[in-house]
Amino acid sequence: MRTIEDLGNLEGKTVLVRSDFNVPLDDQRVITDDGRIRAALPTLNKLINANAKVVVMAHLGRPKGQVKPEFSLAPVADRLSELLNRPVRLASDTIGEDAHRAIAAMSNGDVVLLENVRFDKREDSKDDAQRAELAAEYAKLADAFVSDGFGVVHRKQASVYDVAQLLPSAAGDLVFKEIDSLSKATKNPARPYTVVLGGSKVSDKLGVIDNLLGKADRLLIGGGMGYTFLKAQGYEVGHSLLEEDQIDAVKNYMKRAQETGVELLLPVDVVIADKFAPDAQRKVVSATEIPADWEALDIGPKTAELYAQKIADSETVAWNGPMGVFEFEAFAEGTKAIAQAMQDAHGFTIVGGGDSASAVRNLGFDESKFGHISTGGGASLEFLEGKTLPGIAVLGDE
Ligand code: 3PG
Repeated sequence: MRTIEDLGNLEGKTVLVRSDFNVPLDDQRVITDDGRIRAALPTLNKLINANAKVVVMAHLGRPKGQVKPEFSLAPVADRLSELLNRPVRLASDTIGEDAHRAIAAMSNGDVVLLENVRFDKREDSKDDAQRAELAAEYAKLADAFVSDGFGVVHRKQASVYDVAQLLPSAAGDLVFKEIDSLSKATKNPARPYTVVLGGSKVSDKLGVIDNLLGKADRLLIGGGMGYTFLKAQGYEVGHSLLEEDQIDAVKNYMKRAQETGVELLLPVDVVIADKFAPDAQRKVVSATEIPADWEALDIGPKTAELYAQKIADSETVAWNGPMGVFEFEAFAEGTKAIAQAMQDAHGFTIVGGGDSASAVRNLGFDESKFGHISTGGGASLEFLEGKTLPGIAVLGDE
């Protein structure tokens, strides 16, 4: 893959950088986790220090091709400016008059952020010609392109994939670091290699489970997806999250795990609630005894301990997806226990996925104690699945 250094002397050059600033915001539009913005700083600072004119493009949410103020990158521009300790001018459009005006006014080392690329429906169009047309407009803005939004490299979108073909292009430092770290799990992982999978839906994790059954030594299942596994074993799951249409797939995975000698662990106990609310009544029960009118919202303490032991006894651990509804304090213990076990582990630890990475930061864990905290949600999962990611492939051979 080409590096920023391969782009040569960037002094006075306008460099278009694709970052992933898709950060969570609360109802007041305050950023609740700025991890993705901080992760972008090394590349941006490198370009600033090279005296380039740095034009950043990014998306926020899924505005579906419409200009919607609630999806504006304004809060990101403010936070980026604070973190870079320099002004960041937000252009009110992406390829329009304001973007061109803002870029024309730049001095070396300045930073401009373009407004949400997804305000233009061509950005994520399935039609190659439409994306190419938009990418040609992006290419007019700059002399070179740096792809640094790891969280979006699994998307074949104009600002990720198409524009990279029109300008001298390279991977940014974040994309490099992500690939280097995540490869420790995909290429000859040190063993035992344990994968902890959570999150709400099995259907989101089918590809990764499929791929891991040939690679990992252990799969520890938790979160909402765990109840489909329990149901597939014939247990009552009450009102817990359930994907009936995935029961056969899950049965098949359990069978394959047995055949291939992969240790597949399911929760042995769970924390149940009488309603989906932070102040719900809460009880710990065996995973095989969920009452029909209750729902499980977290793994229980015995499961947390069992999983923590398996993590401690691993040389590589990858974790994707929270173990429960960690946003409700009463149901955050399972996720906290996994984060703690990952933090204490002696093996190489990878936290992938938007929610698990946010959980680690928001629950107050020290990021530096983890081997790698990925900025990618879907992208890190697809990478672990072994898929070719279009935004990486377009940057040249690994
Ligand atoms: C993410 O949040 O995982 C990335 O920013 C990609 O967003 P998307 O799923 O809306 O393409």
